[in-house]
Amino acid sequence: MKNKSLVSITDFSKEEYLKILDTAAEFEKKTYQDLLKGRVISTLFFEPSTRTRLSFESAINRLGGKIIGFNDSSSSSLAKGETLYDTIRVVSNYCELIVMRHPMEGSARYASEITHLPVINAGDGANQHPSQTLLDLYSIQKTQGDLNNLNVFMVGDLKYGRTVHSLLMALSEFHASFYFISPDELRMPEEYKSHLRNKKLSFHESRELDKSIRDADIIYMTRVQKERFSDPIEYERTKNAYVLKNEMIEGTKANMKILHPLPRINEIDVGVDQNPKAYYFQQTENGVYVRQAIISLILDL
Ligand code: CP
Repeated sequence: MKNKSLVSITDFSKEEYLKILDTAAEFEKKTYQDLLKGRVISTLFFEPSTRTRLSFESAINRLGGKIIGFNDSSSSSLAKGETLYDTIRVVSNYCELIVMRHPMEGSARYASEITHLPVINAGDGANQHPSQTLLDLYSIQKTQGDLNNLNVFMVGDLKYGRTVHSLLMALSEFHASFYFISPDELRMPEEYKSHLRNKKLSFHESRELDKSIRDADIIYMTRVQKERFSDPIEYERTKNAYVLKNEMIEGTKANMKILHPLPRINEIDVGVDQNPKAYYFQQTENGVYVRQAIISLILDL
């Protein structure tokens, strides 16, 4: 993994995922370590973020490193018309690793091709969010004890949701069975279903979140992403498609867990937060350990 960029989850092998999860477990036992002392990492966020930016920055701080960057591109020279190319070329002179979120699909790949530094994609449009996937895998392994042969329900915006795209690709290495629950307008894109067919993995599609969720090991809820819609009427039609409530998860497996990359709008009723099957807030904590692991392995600390 040394000096490798993490742009798509498929940039890393199954063995590398497992190495990251093992390393994250070590950081969970001892999170403050001075491995990055005297070293500088850039966090360039061209799009809003709470968890990804702050957990990366917490991870860097816990490793003793320094952070430069911005969380609002209007405060950078992009506002004066500087190109992404020039921005990345310049920032590459100031740090050893770039963590970048950008609204344009393919932007992180582009950045990785124009810098000699490793780039971690912190989300590029509706495309990929690989560090989120690794923390999702960590959360699934921690709660289920095993990543293999799980029934995974993905619910909500499966068209624009970059987290479900990355997670599907990763879990396809572990023989998961998938259940896609979405409105017709927000179905899982064909390229991902095609990938599952090629791997001979089963998937079911439905508009309804019905009694089949009793088979779920993981329910992965997602937000309908207003910022990705070109048609506001389509957003209005789909935004309240699913609201998970306690009564809907009665009769589910004892060890079933509800994950959500967050932010939540209304797709999980707040009453579910106290349910022992809700795991989305613990999931955010796992993000710090996993991001410590990703940074330490890429920089070979
Ligand atoms: N899960 C996630 O990407 O959250 P943020 O948009 O707050 O970073």
